[in-house]
Amino acid sequence: MNELELLEQADTLARAYTRQISTRPAFPDTAALAALKGFDEPLSDKGQPENETLTLLNQLGSPATVASNGPNYYGYVFGASLPVAAGAERVSLAWDQCASSAETSPAADAIERKAGQWVLDILDLPPESAVAFGTSATACGLSCLAAARAELLARKGWDYLQDGLMGAPEIKVVISETAHITIRKALQILGFGWARVLKAPVDTHGRIIPEQLPALDDSTILILQAGEVNTGEFDPFAQIMPLAEAAKAWVHVDGAFGLWAQASPELRPLTKAVERADSWTTDGHKWLNTPYDGAMAICRNPAALARVMNSDAAYSIASAAAQKNLTLEFSRRARGIPIWAALRSLGRDGVAQMVRRHHHQAKHVAKALEAAGFEILNRVVLNQVLVRGASPVATQNILAQVQASGIAWFGGSTWQSGPAFRISISSFRTQDSHIENLIDLLVKIGPNG
Ligand SMILES: Cc1ncc(COP(=O)(O)O)c(C=O)c1O
Repeated sequence: MNELELLEQADTLARAYTRQISTRPAFPDTAALAALKGFDEPLSDKGQPENETLTLLNQLGSPATVASNGPNYYGYVFGASLPVAAGAERVSLAWDQCASSAETSPAADAIERKAGQWVLDILDLPPESAVAFGTSATACGLSCLAAARAELLARKGWDYLQDGLMGAPEIKVVISETAHITIRKALQILGFGWARVLKAPVDTHGRIIPEQLPALDDSTILILQAGEVNTGEFDPFAQIMPLAEAAKAWVHVDGAFGLWAQASPELRPLTKAVERADSWTTDGHKWLNTPYDGAMAICRNPAALARVMNSDAAYSIASAAAQKNLTLEFSRRARGIPIWAALRSLGRDGVAQMVRRHHHQAKHVAKALEAAGFEILNRVVLNQVLVRGASPVATQNILAQVQASGIAWFGGSTWQSGPAFRISISSFRTQDSHIENLIDLLVKIGPNG
């Protein structure tokens, strides 16, 4: 098989998979999982035929995939992949660009610059901000927090890049009690001891209580949330931002999925004053429905991000705005291309409509489940519905039955010391008919499990 025939085979397999995406089991059955043993081959000395390799990948791999690219998957906050974004990804895979700078890929550089401008435009964030297209909200959050620390130290006359942390003025970190685990991960990589991180108390919705916020000062990084992972709630930015501004603290907002509420006029009240922060992270692969892995580190002060992320070498010098000088990666895929494609094809209205539709679907699910005797634990301000059955055991039973059904899938969580399950509506493929199927399934199982 020559190269083009092989790529055609791959395309045929990918098309066949996509054709069935709406009817695939939401989670693989036991036979498909057992068949994964087939991958357990010894590494061959002489190699194996290329077309057979793709055939094996498809035969064993496809049935064992989680249908998170389909309409019936409500787990985590996994978005599906918009066809235009997946298509742009396919084209850019053929390009195989090292999208470090304008020198290594003029096309990627130009497209990602435009994508960055559009991201700032649709999220209504300061137009002077840098937008770095990284792998995940985790990696992008890490980048922003590194920039925040270096900048706060610089304001105190400490050169972090030259002198490191030994003997440096202490930087205080304040986070929400309900901050996402990946914020903790970023902080631990950066060397902020967990016991020293100050946790801000939250209300019953998981939002920081401004009156109980630990004292802020000009050595503080304050990390807020746009979209709490269980409830979908937002910290009250409008009340907190003036406090942070008065203290000259650095405010970072984890908006992995929730920042996209900015795109919807109806949901904009949730994000009021979010644009006054210093840095933000959000994902494309969640609510914008672009393929994995594509996220954004957005920093109001581009120089602050570029200083900690710079990777210029004698043989590789680029502008401060080059992606290799803003992201963790040196060699990298152009993660901004699918984001550009999604924004270009959806436009402002398309993103707003998708976000709004998911919110309305979530409210509908909550109402129907409540009427059927389930306990709804959140206010459903966004796309997350947090649910409990009649008892902790019933909640676990309901979850197990749904997960085994193949009809739909969502995950469990713990909320206020008790088990719960979390329905996240994040896929462009999820139409009202899928929502009705989900409700039917749960109503049939019932709150007693
Ligand atoms: C609120 C929040 N922050 C951060 C993350 C981490 O995002 P990523 O998986 O892109 O690293 C998630 C993922 O679920 C999230 O929901």
